[in-house]
Amino acid sequence: MNIACIVLPTYNESENVKILLPRIFEQADRIASHELHMLVVDDNSPDGTAGVVRGMQARFPRLHLITGEKKGLGAAYKRGFAHAIAELDPDVILQMDADLQHSPELLPLMIDLLQHGFTFVIGSRFIFGGSTPDFSLRRRTMSLVGNWLLRNMGGLPSIRDCTSGFRCIKAELLKRCDLTGLSTKGYSFQSSLLFELVRNGAKVIEVPITFPDRVRGESKLSFADQVEFLFNLARIRFRKSSEFTRFLLVGASGVVVNLGLYYLLTRLFSVSLEIAAPIAIEVSIVSNFILNNLYTFRERDSRNSLMRRFLYFHVAAGVAGVVNYSIFMLLVKGVGMFDMFANCVGIAAGTVVNYLMNSRITWVGKKKDGSFPIDRRPMR
Ligand code: GDD
Ligand code: MN
Repeated sequence: MNIACIVLPTYNESENVKILLPRIFEQADRIASHELHMLVVDDNSPDGTAGVVRGMQARFPRLHLITGEKKGLGAAYKRGFAHAIAELDPDVILQMDADLQHSPELLPLMIDLLQHGFTFVIGSRFIFGGSTPDFSLRRRTMSLVGNWLLRNMGGLPSIRDCTSGFRCIKAELLKRCDLTGLSTKGYSFQSSLLFELVRNGAKVIEVPITFPDRVRGESKLSFADQVEFLFNLARIRFRKSSEFTRFLLVGASGVVVNLGLYYLLTRLFSVSLEIAAPIAIEVSIVSNFILNNLYTFRERDSRNSLMRRFLYFHVAAGVAGVVNYSIFMLLVKGVGMFDMFANCVGIAAGTVVNYLMNSRITWVGKKKDGSFPIDRRPMR
């Protein structure tokens, strides 16, 4: 019979695994298509989680354990996936948390969906029917903003929960992925794995889950994981979209044009700065437009006429400028942030808004080869 293997990373979860493991194996009878195995990946938890698991292996012969040094959630998953594939040759691999925040009762449904043509099932907190009843406003906001960024920057408009830790993956699909370069920590591992799966052609479906707070033990994901998440977001984007990279290069050239022209006009031609600045701005917008049209979006078959693109490009620049300025003022006056730093944040936000407007409005349309640009690609 085919094997489904749950990879369950643990760090200081001795109290939870005692309750969770029997509940998981109770589900085995409800899964007709697969033999259910479990691989616990424990990172030498000081609370003796590994010992508890070993103590249960006599009762559950399909319970496996590997131990290692603590190097982060992603590192544990990578080791777990490799071990499961090498030792058990499963047809299905699942990811799950050990702290009872993921309900084992959902396992049969998730595995069953793979029998219906899907290759990647996500337990989702953010689709209709899903919920996070105990999330603080802060955690909820963070999670939603994180997911919004992933969708809009990473280019997966139809996935609502990109960081969920409850997933069911066709082993074939996972084997096609190259996990070596993926980030090794918490949220970032989840999202970079998701992008890698999608890049390799995953057929995705989300099923709603309730994600209550943990009762025993504590969360291991830290502030550092959130910072890594942001860096990782940029990495995902660069990897996926040459258009965004080209857009940034053109933007940088615009800065040079702007500053250079301003210098020439004021220093060599003694034009007053009130007149030199707007001329420099407009010329850099025009040069950016020409380069974006010939270079950044060269693969797009835009629906808009050249004149219309030229007009929209100006509107986008205006909106981006307003966003940049508003965020800058808010951070300096409202939050009291150091002005140079606030300016960087404002410029980054303005650049993203500018890119999204141009990608989705100015140059909207299919690519010339008939495919969809990355942030407009339908999932299925
Ligand atoms: N082996 C190992 N090594 N396991 C770890 C490590 C590690 O370094 N860090 C965390 N774990 C285990 C925990 O023991 C738990 O079983 C599971 O991974 C999830 O860790 P939590 O610390 O409970 O994470 P969380 O509840 O804050 O975050 C959950 O939700 C996030 C999205 O909101 C997880 O599912 C994340 O993966 C998810 O991104
Ligand atoms: Mn948890």
